[in-house]
Amino acid sequence: MTAEELTPDGRARVLADGGILPLLGLGVWQVPDGRECVDAVRWALDAGYRHIDTAQAYGNEASVGKALRDSGIDRDEVFITTKFFPREDDPVRAIELSLRRLGVDQVDLYLVHWPQNGPTWAWPGMERAAAQGYARSIGVSNFSESDLESVAASAERMPSVNQVSYSPFAFRQGLQKACQRHDIVLEAYSPLGTGRLLQDETVIDIVAGAARTPAQVLLRWAVQRGIPVIPKSVHQDRIEQNLQIFDFELSATDLARLDALDRTAHTTRALEHPWW
Ligand code: A2P
Repeated sequence: MTAEELTPDGRARVLADGGILPLLGLGVWQVPDGRECVDAVRWALDAGYRHIDTAQAYGNEASVGKALRDSGIDRDEVFITTKFFPREDDPVRAIELSLRRLGVDQVDLYLVHWPQNGPTWAWPGMERAAAQGYARSIGVSNFSESDLESVAASAERMPSVNQVSYSPFAFRQGLQKACQRHDIVLEAYSPLGTGRLLQDETVIDIVAGAARTPAQVLLRWAVQRGIPVIPKSVHQDRIEQNLQIFDFELSATDLARLDALDRTAHTTRALEHPWW
């Protein structure tokens, strides 16, 4: 992590293509379309989040768009990610529909959601989506090192981001190094281990010393190393709490204790059990 990879305020990552990815975003995986999603996104925007992560597969892009419009915040101030659902066949056609649902002209980041039927077939369509101006940056999600190597062998434009499940339990150092080699930013989904890590004894022990919550310690573990995180919550107090991670630091000892929780054996893989 060099200084140029972060913005001067230390709160966003500069992508290889020049895009600016805020280190903290709200993830809306498993948030039902409608009131619950609109409220969560609106609470996040009102609290100061400027990064929302959705996907075609989540079925809630319209709610994200509604909350964005209702907030009155300038479109250009908010970083919006959506993901290509790889059971469809055309990333360009699919993003045209996403843009309509979101009510925007362009997303900031468009990811291949997972490498179903191989890692390379969707990539030319992603490159076309960017060339047509539908996506400012393009990338992938759930791609292992070998998947990234396959894309690199034929890509005209490399992915800027690889979004994977990443937390102290899933500290994928091998994959992180592979991303670094290709100038790809590794972004963390499920940074709280989908909530399971919040009860971990080591995490709770560190919290006692830091006067912070388990969620804040886990998010800080990632952002302190420049890893963007997209914790999911539908509760206003938690959404606000998860933003308060830029005013404290974990010691090298605490970082190392959290690193030691890894259960992936420093894997280069994106997932232990692919669902596709
Ligand atoms: P909820 O949405 O009911 O608030 P991850 O981002 O790793 O997938 O974790 C999401 C899970 O963690 C959700 O179940 C969410 O619950 C819960 N969660 C998110 N933020 C907090 C927090 N600050 N404190 C406790 N639980 C949280």
